[in-house]
Amino acid sequence: MIRIENLVKLYKDVKALDGLNLEVKPGQIYGFLGPNGAGKSTTILSTLGLIFPQEGRISLFDLEVFRDGKFNEDSLVEAKRRIGYMPEHATLWDFMTPVQTLDIIADAFKIPRAEKERRIRELLELVNLWEDRNRKVGKFSKGMRQRLLLAQALINDPDLLILDEPMTGLDPTGIAEFKDIIREQRKAGRTVFFSSHILAHVEEICDTVGVIVKGKLRVEDSLDRIKREFLKKAGYTIILETNVPVDFTGVDWRVSPLGERKYRIAAPDDIREELHDFVASKGAKILTMQVKEPSLEEIFLKMVE
Ligand SMILES: Nc1ncnc2c1ncn2[C@@H]1O[C@H](COP(=O)(O)OP(=O)(O)OP(=O)(O)O)[C@@H](O)[C@H]1O
Ligand SMILES: [Mg+2]
Repeated sequence: MIRIENLVKLYKDVKALDGLNLEVKPGQIYGFLGPNGAGKSTTILSTLGLIFPQEGRISLFDLEVFRDGKFNEDSLVEAKRRIGYMPEHATLWDFMTPVQTLDIIADAFKIPRAEKERRIRELLELVNLWEDRNRKVGKFSKGMRQRLLLAQALINDPDLLILDEPMTGLDPTGIAEFKDIIREQRKAGRTVFFSSHILAHVEEICDTVGVIVKGKLRVEDSLDRIKREFLKKAGYTIILETNVPVDFTGVDWRVSPLGERKYRIAAPDDIREELHDFVASKGAKILTMQVKEPSLEEIFLKMVE
């Protein structure tokens, strides 16, 4: 759906994209992760022809839209008909209601009147705003605003959704609601490409995660595999709670007590099974065992190394 090859974008002397390669396949929910300033928005804006990269190639669907420093305007227009886009800093008309807002957007897309009403209702139901359809947007919470922006992006029934930081600023409930709606999109046969700098946003919904740092894609894989790979490199930290105190003298792992029966254990690899056996051999039982997940910041740092 999206194929980017060796994309380079310079803003004066700032290299925002430094030979970026990326591929989003049909039906994927692709999480585009990276710290602030990594080049996520630059990638998205380039893909949509809203800024001009200097080098590389971009294809959307099977159309080559950018090559040799130039956009192919015809292909771009054709591709964009099938894309829904939610910008990073989108604004809404605060004095209008969701119905009025979508009405204007639908007119911009020249959606026929009869279809328009049906479509607006369908979209507002989808983003759980039907009950609020006649309230002014100015009174909406951040989560409601983001959902309305998503409805806007869906007005042309796109095959591909491109969302720039759609969950930033939402509380955990807002994030959960938004994720549900994204999952619905996949069921409806759409491909979703969205960016974020927060790990929790891509968890549980993305089949593929691409991590961009300093304008380059450092890794592209499932989040589970990225984490496992990271744990292999950085080592495992396990928090263990036992029913009675355990004497860990003689083990190879680094053990620091966190309480009377609670320990932090650092090891070069996954030692959960050995740990079970060890604790049992001491006549104790494990009450809880938790592998400490790496933070996204730790993963980013590792990627840059
Ligand atoms: N219009 C611009 N003029 C000059 N430099 C820019 C411009 N837009 C972005 N940059 C720079 O390009 C780099 C990438 O920026 P970009 O906005 O793509 O990052 P991002 O990953 O979207 O970050 P964020 O998480 O903050 O949204 C940054 O160093 C940024 O300062
Ligand atoms: Mg951005």
